[in-house]
Amino acid sequence: MDNRPIGVFDSGMGGLSVWKEIKSSLANESLIFFGDGLRCPYGSRPESEVLQFTIEGVERLLAEGCKLIVIACNTATAVAIDYLREHYPQIPFVGLEPAVKPAALSTKTGIVAVLATQRSLEGSLFIKTSSKYATQAKIIKSVGEGFVEIVEHGRENSAEAEERVRQVVEPLIAAGVDKIVLGCTHYPFLRETIERVIAGRQVDIIDSGEAVERRVEYLLDEYSLRADSDNVPSYRLLTLADEHYLERLERRAYGY
Ligand code: DGL
Repeated sequence: MDNRPIGVFDSGMGGLSVWKEIKSSLANESLIFFGDGLRCPYGSRPESEVLQFTIEGVERLLAEGCKLIVIACNTATAVAIDYLREHYPQIPFVGLEPAVKPAALSTKTGIVAVLATQRSLEGSLFIKTSSKYATQAKIIKSVGEGFVEIVEHGRENSAEAEERVRQVVEPLIAAGVDKIVLGCTHYPFLRETIERVIAGRQVDIIDSGEAVERRVEYLLDEYSLRADSDNVPSYRLLTLADEHYLERLERRAYGY
C-alpha cells in the first residue's frame, strides 16, 4: 500500500478532464495536478521546448513525492513520453494518445476524424497508431485551431467558441465522418459545444478519459502502488501562472 499522491501534468487546464476521471474512480487516491498555464499552449511550440517544459513539470511532481505520473497532455506525451520512460525508469508514466482504435473499429461510414494539436498530429506516436488502423478506416486529421485558448480563458459557452467549433467540425461532417476523436485533453471541455454543432446528426465523440483511468488502475496494481482503502485523499493544484489562474483551476477542478 502506498499513500503518496498520483501526479497529473498538463500544459494548462485541459488535463483536469483526466484528473476528474481519476478522482471520481479512485476516491482514496491523493492527487496533485500541475498545469503549467504560463507557457500554454504547447501545441504550436518547437519539440525542444515542449520536452523541456514537460521535464520541468515532471521534476516538480517528483519533488512533491508523486508515485505515478499521468502526462495528461497529448502534445507533451507525443514529444516526451519515450524520454521520460528512459530517464525516470523508477516511475510509472501514463501517456495520452488519441483513441484511434475504438473509433476505427466502430465506424460505420469508414471515416473518422482525429482532432488534436499540430504537434500531436505530427508526432511519431500518432503516425504509428493511425497507420495501424488505416485499413479499418480513413483517418482525417484536424487541428482544433483556437480550442485550447478558448478553454484556457473559460469561454467554452461563448458565441465565439461555437463559431470556432463550427468552422472545424462542419467540414468533418461534410466529409462523412461518424466518429470524432478528441485528441487533446482541453477538448472534452468543449464537448457540449461540439454536440450543439453536431445537432443530432449521427456523429459520436470519443475521448480517452476512461481508458486513461483504467490504465492508471492497471499500473497501480502492477507496481503495488494503491493507497490504503481507508486513506483520506488530499488534492493539490499547482501552476506556474498567477493567483487568478490558480483560482480558475480550482473552480474547474472542484466544479464551483
Ligand atoms: N492539453 C494539451 C493536449 O492534450 C493541450 C495542448 C497545448 O497546450 O497546446 O495536447
